[in-house]
Amino acid sequence: MNPSPQQPTNVKQLSIADHDHVPMQLDEAALDAARHSLDQASVTPSYGPWRADICKLLNDALATELVCVLRYKRHHFTAVGLASPKIADEFLVHANEESAHADRLAKRIVQLGGKPDFSPDTLTQRSHADYDDSNDLKAMIKANLIAERVAIEAYTQLIALIGEKDSTSRRLLEDILADEQEHAEELADWLA
Ligand SMILES: [Fe+2]
Ligand SMILES: [Fe+2]
Repeated sequence: MNPSPQQPTNVKQLSIADHDHVPMQLDEAALDAARHSLDQASVTPSYGPWRADICKLLNDALATELVCVLRYKRHHFTAVGLASPKIADEFLVHANEESAHADRLAKRIVQLGGKPDFSPDTLTQRSHADYDDSNDLKAMIKANLIAERVAIEAYTQLIALIGEKDSTSRRLLEDILADEQEHAEELADWLA
């Protein structure tokens, strides 16, 4: 039915201030729940249903880092005799930095009550970046640049997905992302 044109016109216009005001307050039930379940250590109810998803995503990132360690180590040891020993040394520096990333991810997964997955059987399927066994220095640099760019994209998406759901994991991922961006810049310089 169409509204009558004679409808009263003194209906109060809503302003922002008139909207139902939901006071900012903490969830007391969750605070109370935090007093219990001490076996969960630092994981409190705010993690809600996201904890398992976050552990799965962090495990995929862990697999990526482990594959990157293997790829950089392979490149380091096979590039030693090639034209640029400096680049071979830098591959080892990157390998060690990826290994440190893997350790930090594994530690965070354990803090969240998950299990870090180091299984070699499924490593390459779970990794976002690829292994590479090129023998040519330029091909190695290119493979590493591709892997770093894939890692940057994966970490960027992961940070957006986690958002405010787990600020500790997000800060860790932001730290790692900054390192991957530096790696990619170096590789791109060498390729040029
Ligand atoms: Fe890394
Ligand atoms: Fe990297």
